[in-house]
Amino acid sequence: MFGIQEDYENKLATAGEIASRVQSNDVIYLNAGSGFPITFSDALTRRASELRNVRIAHAVRPDPTMLEIDYLCPEYADSFTLICEYSFDRVAREAVTSGRGSYRPHYPSQSGMSWPYEIDYLVTSASPMDEHGYFSFGAAACYPPDFLPQTRRLVLEVNPHQPRVYGDSFVHISQVDALYEVDEPIPSIDVTSGAKPTEVEEAIGAHVAELIEDRSTLQLGIGAVPDVVARLLRDKKDLGIHTEMLSDPLVMLVECGAVTNRFKTFHPGRIVCTCCFGSEKLYRYIADNPAVETYPISYTNNPENIARNYKQVSINATLQVDFMGQCASESLGTRHYSGIGGQWEFTRGAYLSPGGKGFICVRSTAKNGTISTITPTLSPGAAVSITRNDVHYVVTEYGAALLKGRTIEERTKSLISIAHPDFRDELTFEAKRLCYLT
Ligand code: COA
Repeated sequence: MFGIQEDYENKLATAGEIASRVQSNDVIYLNAGSGFPITFSDALTRRASELRNVRIAHAVRPDPTMLEIDYLCPEYADSFTLICEYSFDRVAREAVTSGRGSYRPHYPSQSGMSWPYEIDYLVTSASPMDEHGYFSFGAAACYPPDFLPQTRRLVLEVNPHQPRVYGDSFVHISQVDALYEVDEPIPSIDVTSGAKPTEVEEAIGAHVAELIEDRSTLQLGIGAVPDVVARLLRDKKDLGIHTEMLSDPLVMLVECGAVTNRFKTFHPGRIVCTCCFGSEKLYRYIADNPAVETYPISYTNNPENIARNYKQVSINATLQVDFMGQCASESLGTRHYSGIGGQWEFTRGAYLSPGGKGFICVRSTAKNGTISTITPTLSPGAAVSITRNDVHYVVTEYGAALLKGRTIEERTKSLISIAHPDFRDELTFEAKRLCYLT
């Protein structure tokens, strides 16, 4: 079409040239996971000595060892600070706990709408432009569409390895301010290098899988327990997928025939997600595949949309659960550990879904068996990620406690029954002292 290619050529630069336009005090938003623009990040960090107080925001980053140079390292503290939308990697977590950044509490479906600053540069990976002038945000639709209204300049890292994915995740060249080209594999996860699940993870996964019925629609995160659950669901029938992040274990369920999406009541016949993060094989699966649709995170994670699925199941993890069923997944007491991710939104959506089930998984102990993760009260300062009103099932290696709709007395009894046996007497004593049990 007339003008599209010229527009592209006019906006084309190198990552270094675009990074050289950034000024002190600018706000930069980097897309997450498989959409993270590694080359721009490296180019910007190389300018550290010329810049002061550049605020960089992002959610999940790829493994920081994929970066040549990391803006979050302590030596760049005067140049870059982090607006932490979610912390997953050790470096980002350390930046927040040591004051080189600050966590911004919000639900991901509200991340764009709750964002209070003007963004000087929003940078994301994208697939190559098509003949109509559109780029796909590929495996990482998640954040850019929701942040465009507050963005002054949209920058694309155009990469032929970024798959073109269906759904609502396209941007037109006329909306782009600058772009640069790379030809590198997009950030991935080596799914073969993960440690074998422990006995505890196997047991938790088995308790969850047992409660999942045929024709359920699944949300699974990354980690050993979701891997175990997926493996144990291979003989189920007509499962569907509506999840925040599409991962390899879910695709395995498609390949073995357990997922058909046939009985989904919201986007039937389609996998719905906001991003995909995993192996090269996963990225090949989603490329130009009409069965996979990515949408902005404001859409996939909206609990009302999630609840439009019949039998929506959510499976997430936490760090500590108190007798009322409040779950602390983001902090250990006052110490920041993670972000909420889609955990509340999917738990809430599953709670509202007809026949839905929300599972919160936790190992019964931490620190080599010296601490019970089920406790009378949360540690002082802990952030409540799932409120007692939204919790449905809590699962440890000792079983699944059904809390939805139950009294505090019933919750306390059920939670003590799935606590580690070494702590049950002590927990019962405390429950009586608090008058939760008579
Ligand atoms: N008290 C003290 N320490 C505790 C603890 C407790 N109750 N529970 C866990 N810990 C410690 C562990 O010992 C471990 O320490 P180590 O790193 O020194 O070994 C550390 O905290 C992490 O615990 P672990 O159980 O291994 O957590 P994890 O890595 O499996 O992550 C969450 C669990 C909750 C942090 C993670 O699932 C998360 O970020 N969830 C929120 C976001 C989300 O759900 N996203 C998906 C939705 S789409």
